[in-house]
Amino acid sequence: MSVVDELLLAFRSYLQSRSDPVLKHFIEGFGWSMDARTLAPHDLAVVSYLRALDRSGNGAEEVLLNRLLDAEDSLHWAQTYNIADFGGDFLQKYGWVELFGTRGHFASEEMAGGFLLLGPGVHYPDHHHVAEEIYIPLTDGSLWSKDAQPFLPRWSGEIIHHPSNIRHAMRTEDHPLVALYLWRGGPLAQKSIISGRMQ
Ligand SMILES: [Fe+2]
Repeated sequence: MSVVDELLLAFRSYLQSRSDPVLKHFIEGFGWSMDARTLAPHDLAVVSYLRALDRSGNGAEEVLLNRLLDAEDSLHWAQTYNIADFGGDFLQKYGWVELFGTRGHFASEEMAGGFLLLGPGVHYPDHHHVAEEIYIPLTDGSLWSKDAQPFLPRWSGEIIHHPSNIRHAMRTEDHPLVALYLWRGGPLAQKSIISGRMQ
């Protein structure tokens, strides 16, 4: 079994171990048996922050994070934004990998899931999209805003739900953010709309 297969198993096990009703409803009935796609590994500058994390701890989030660390060199890291969106600094400290979905390592038209990385000192401004979304940080202390409300610190394992088209934003301070994400119920490869900006 490849490290990417192991990561999918860990991703699924982690989600199924959680009892949160919103998450349970979100993943209910999802077909986890997906065909693998051949995706070449693709590195990004932001992955260096993932590599620098230590493997301390043995909670459920750390177990999943360790599987991500095992697989990092085999994953196709990607970006949706370009330099015109949030500038060049942002692109050095931002990236994601789609583990499964319409373009990820495993094929699904039903739901997309993967991991978002942000380096320290990043502001990911307000954006929104049609798909409903769940984020679960795997690191502590990132700051999150939903529906133009003040930023609040969030901790590893918290479940953050963004209904369709609700604007949301994230900030990091001294530490990077690694977060699991799920998208469902909208175009799964949509580029997020930057809220308040003319398209
Ligand atoms: Fe989002």
